[in-house]
Order: sequence, then C-alpha cells, then structure tokens
Amino acid sequence: MPYLIAIALAIAGAGFALSAHAQTPPQRLGLCAACHGERGIATGKTIPNLAGQNLDYLRNALAQYQSGARDVAAMRAAAGMLNATELNQVLRWYADQQLAAPSVP
Ligand code: HEC
Repeated sequence: MPYLIAIALAIAGAGFALSAHAQTPPQRLGLCAACHGERGIATGKTIPNLAGQNLDYLRNALAQYQSGARDVAAMRAAAGMLNATELNQVLRWYADQQLAAPSVP
C-alpha cells in the first residue's frame, strides 16, 4: 500500500511540475481575448489569430496601431487600455501559444 501511495504522489508531483511550467494567463488578457481568443484563436473571421506569431512582429504591429501608422480604431482603443508591461505580457502569451492547425475549407 505505501508503494501505491508513493506512485500516486510521484504522478501528482509530475502533474504539478507540468502545470507549474505552463504559463498562467496574464491578468489583462480578457480584453484582448474578447476578440483574439484566450489562446490566440480569433473569435471572428475579420480578426487575426495571434497564436504562435513572432513576438517581434506582434510588438511592431501594436506600435503601429498606437502611432496610427496602422489606423484601426478598435486596436488603437484596445492598445490604449493596457500599460506597456501589460501589453508585453499579453503579446508574449499569444506568441507562446501553439500554432493553430490549418483549417481546410
Ligand atoms: C474589438 C476587437 C479587438 C480587441 C478587443 C483587440 N483586438 Fe487586436 N485586432 C483586432 C482586429 C480587427 C485586428 C486587425 C486590424 C487590421 O486590419 O490591422 C487586430 C489586430 C491585432 C494585431 C495585429 C495582428 C497582425 O497579424 O498583424 C495585434 C498584435 C493585436 N490585434 C493585438 C491585440 C491586443 C494585445 C489586444 C488587447 C490589448 C487586442 N488586440 C484587442 C480586433 C481587436
């Protein structure tokens, strides 16, 4: 019996190690997730997926919305609601998500 408990503890421990490794979603993800999805798969067909995108590309796109070089009202408004640290956390989260499998029409 102690043997079984040891195995159970080992499995539980491994599970804990795995979940500790997995990132926790950034606090301010909700606003962006309303359109881009929690894991970067967009909630609508006119909204881009962000999962697995290059972090530098995402940062660059964000800077373009903020400067108005890319003039999209929804994104300028959304970007203005988070501070630089929060935006960085959200973009890093999206860049770290698994790429979506291509969907076959
Ligand atoms: C109201 C819906 C909406 C919300 C909320 C929103 N986005 Fe967007 N986002 C869009 C749309 C639509 C586009 C495509 C705009 C365009 O044509 O350039 C976009 C584009 C982007 C892009 C560029 C993607 C690319 O492939 O070029 C990034 C990065 C991005 N959003 C990040 C964010 C982040 C971070 C947040 C949260 C602060 C956020 N978005 C909130 C709708 C939204």
